[in-house]
Amino acid sequence: MPDAHILGIESSCDETGAAVVRSGQQILSNVVASQIATHQPYGGVVPELASREHLRAIVPVVRQALAEAGQTYESVDAIAVTQGPGLAGALLVGISYAKALAFALEKPLIAVNHLEGHIHAVLLEQRQSENADLHFPVLALVVSGGHTHLYLAQLQENLWTYRNVGHTRDDAAGEAFDKVAKLLGLGYPGGPIIDRLAPHGDPHAVKFQISQIKHPDRRNHKQPSAEEDGPHFDFSYSGIKTAVLRYVETQNLKPAIEVRRQALAGIEKPMLEDCLRLCDRQTLNLVASFQRSMVNDLVAKTLAAAREYDVRTLFVSGGVAANQELRTTFEREAGMQGLPVFFPSRALSTDNAAMIAAAAFPKFLRQEFVPMDFSADAGMSLR
Ligand code: KG4
Ligand code: ZN
Repeated sequence: MPDAHILGIESSCDETGAAVVRSGQQILSNVVASQIATHQPYGGVVPELASREHLRAIVPVVRQALAEAGQTYESVDAIAVTQGPGLAGALLVGISYAKALAFALEKPLIAVNHLEGHIHAVLLEQRQSENADLHFPVLALVVSGGHTHLYLAQLQENLWTYRNVGHTRDDAAGEAFDKVAKLLGLGYPGGPIIDRLAPHGDPHAVKFQISQIKHPDRRNHKQPSAEEDGPHFDFSYSGIKTAVLRYVETQNLKPAIEVRRQALAGIEKPMLEDCLRLCDRQTLNLVASFQRSMVNDLVAKTLAAAREYDVRTLFVSGGVAANQELRTTFEREAGMQGLPVFFPSRALSTDNAAMIAAAAFPKFLRQEFVPMDFSADAGMSLR
């Protein structure tokens, strides 16, 4: 197999990333410039600000990734960039820069689906740890701020193909974490703070019902192809967010939330201790109960899909895969089914460019390069 150094570029949401990965398995550098501070005052990602921050960060981030890898613009073998899904303006910054580099340096250009990147974050580290013994079929749960998707993944002659067997009908799991944290005055992004607060509350204190989905997805008008025509395991997380809001209203928690919001806004980098000090027992119980319901639903539906499709390996990736309770629950429950489950390290769970460079390697081997006129695809699906 030929050796290749691929420069990956990622700019689909609120992280500007550049990385150099050798042959899909060795990370030589992985630089991520986070925009959390920019979006924090708004409680979510503001698309126009994201594009502007990417513009500011892209050149130094790429330069730093090359320097840390001991590479130069000339020495890399190909340039890979996220094509979608994501914010159109944000994607265009990475794509325009990748195109300019590829054109000027006369290097091949590879377009990568961001979701495929998240799946390859797991594969990258599996290869790195020389755990090459991967058993198919693989079921991958990609669970992030924008997605809660289940894919069956297959590999044939360096060609990865994916079949979607489940998705969220409304909010993504990470979006629910972010919205609930915002609602409770805990700041942005919500996932990491809820993750750290939850062990301090009683997860059985508040009962949440997560809607079970029985009717077909009416938003998806196209007829499923014969191949897609299997059972679907869909998710829905807008209901639980509304249930938290109702709880806040009926329990009259709003005044305390406002105090917490203002106090945390006045602290430059709030620590866990700050949040704990500003949360009463009832709020901690609410946070713990919310997280437990989310985790149980994600694990139960994913394992039901794994049984239905008789998979031999499970991958869990995307920002929410950093969640501690999700990891331990998956490990315990999948273990009981005798199913091996793999996660990326926390640094590779959230958005980064190493996963993009890794996903590009099989495409490099197949010489699957894109022409200079390719563009961003904000709603890109994975096949
Ligand atoms: O994959 P990612 O970095 O960006 C997207 O592609 O969306 O995921 C970001 C999402 C956010 O919603 C964030 O709150 C969530 O992942 N997240 C977490 C944790 N760390 C990040 N959710 C739960 N627990 C965490 N530890
Ligand atoms: Zn992502």
